[in-house]
Amino acid sequence: MAVKKVSRREFIELSSAALVGGCLGLNSVRAIAGMMSGSGMGGGGMMGGGMTGTIDPPPGSLFMDPPVMPNLRAGTPGLVEVSIEARSAPVNLNGTIANLLTYNGSYPGPTIRVKQGDLLRVNLRNSLPMQGMNILGHDRDITNLHTHGLHVSPMGISDNVMVMLMPGDTFTYEYDLSKQSAGTLNFYHPHVHGTVAEQYWGGLAGALIVEDDLPVLGGYETHLMVLKDISVSGGNPEVYGSTMDYMMGKEGKLVMVNGQVNPVLPIRPGQVQRWRVLNASNARYYKLSLEGHSLQLVGTEGGLLDKPYSLTSLVLAPGERADILVKASLTAKNYRLLSLPYDRGCGSMGQQVTLATISCKGTRASDTIPSVIDPEAVRFNAIPVATRQLTLSMGQGRGYINGVSFTGMDHTTLLHSELGTCEVWEIVNQSGMDHPFHQHVNPCQVLSVSGGDPASAALYTRIPAWKDVVNIPRMGRAKLLVPIADFDGMAMFHCHIVEHEDIGMMGLWDLMGSGMPMP
Ligand code: C2O
Ligand code: CU
Ligand code: CU
Repeated sequence: MAVKKVSRREFIELSSAALVGGCLGLNSVRAIAGMMSGSGMGGGGMMGGGMTGTIDPPPGSLFMDPPVMPNLRAGTPGLVEVSIEARSAPVNLNGTIANLLTYNGSYPGPTIRVKQGDLLRVNLRNSLPMQGMNILGHDRDITNLHTHGLHVSPMGISDNVMVMLMPGDTFTYEYDLSKQSAGTLNFYHPHVHGTVAEQYWGGLAGALIVEDDLPVLGGYETHLMVLKDISVSGGNPEVYGSTMDYMMGKEGKLVMVNGQVNPVLPIRPGQVQRWRVLNASNARYYKLSLEGHSLQLVGTEGGLLDKPYSLTSLVLAPGERADILVKASLTAKNYRLLSLPYDRGCGSMGQQVTLATISCKGTRASDTIPSVIDPEAVRFNAIPVATRQLTLSMGQGRGYINGVSFTGMDHTTLLHSELGTCEVWEIVNQSGMDHPFHQHVNPCQVLSVSGGDPASAALYTRIPAWKDVVNIPRMGRAKLLVPIADFDGMAMFHCHIVEHEDIGMMGLWDLMGSGMPMP
């Protein structure tokens, strides 16, 4: 594919967006100028985050769900125990073997399945082969585990991201899922500051499903779609070679569903399928759209919705998840599941990508979309005890929240919250690119969004959606209602373009246990 020539006008817009928006420092702007005058980029785009054009590969192999993680305690009710080894393994990516970072040899990682109320025990072994330091000066082979989306304690042997495993180390985590919402798609990935982007890019991510407790969605054929992109060079994940990789966030030339390029998913005319979709990409945004069909959104990160919401497209920022019903057309043919171009800022107009081919054929079914999903899902209503402002910015190769760039666990705590209360967080984006804001432990509801995609803003401010990743549009802002419930300890919030987390767009959140229990 030819290198896209950037016109002088586009370049001026890009540079001034960078300067005005502060999304890149001066040195970075000079680096972009260098890249644009050069011609050696190759591949599908002009730079990491500046992909343009279309990725439309031919239909590939039959769609496969990721493997399920074996439960070592299948005979013991209430206990799920799994063993996870973080190691490199050869993975077949669209016909080419690459050495990726994997959990138990699989890309993406095997799906952990649990029920509300279970105790989940995870034996993690660090067998990562990487050596030395990355360009941020962090040891590349230290890892740990974060259970993104679980409403569990951030302390001790639970979801404690301060635990660190050196190569060869093992650690046993235990998560008490008695307060966890059913019917949720969560995921697990490493969380050692300064090394997350590289490990996640290399392949370390897997889904963690908490089963439904309502029968309403149980009857549909259900699939998990883990969206992940990568570029491979010399048989390995493309390295992080420059500050620019961290400032822009890496987007890959291979865009895959469950590690497959444009897999073919069969559906019968009139059939309803349930798709659980996870954006496990470092920096790529997906604007999901299925040719000839609408998407019925029935759940978000923190739980199921009251009823289905019909959408023509849905933006999934890095870290976001969606639970979707699709009713196949009665016209038997192939329909492409697309990611439409999404402009995430800093000169990146986005690409149109064919994610999968939905092959509609066979005996006609007469499935229906239910009118009610979870009657108990409501817009949360509580009097906030505090209103906080968290300002996201970038510059000098670093990311900041309220002007502070995270450097380590001895870091200044940015927020102290009282257990049993509720707060309004206003997240302000003072940069020229979007940031998907994520907080651990407690999901939130969205009160308002300004800037960005109007459809997303209208959606999340009106439906009873629990979110743990909310996209904050460039030079825009969002207000979140955050209940602080059940668990004390030190948690975190950060941008889920994980490169930005690694360069400091992260803060510590002290959940203090002196408050009253949540009603
Ligand atoms: Cu998925 Cu703190 O992250
Ligand atoms: Cu998380
Ligand atoms: Cu960011």
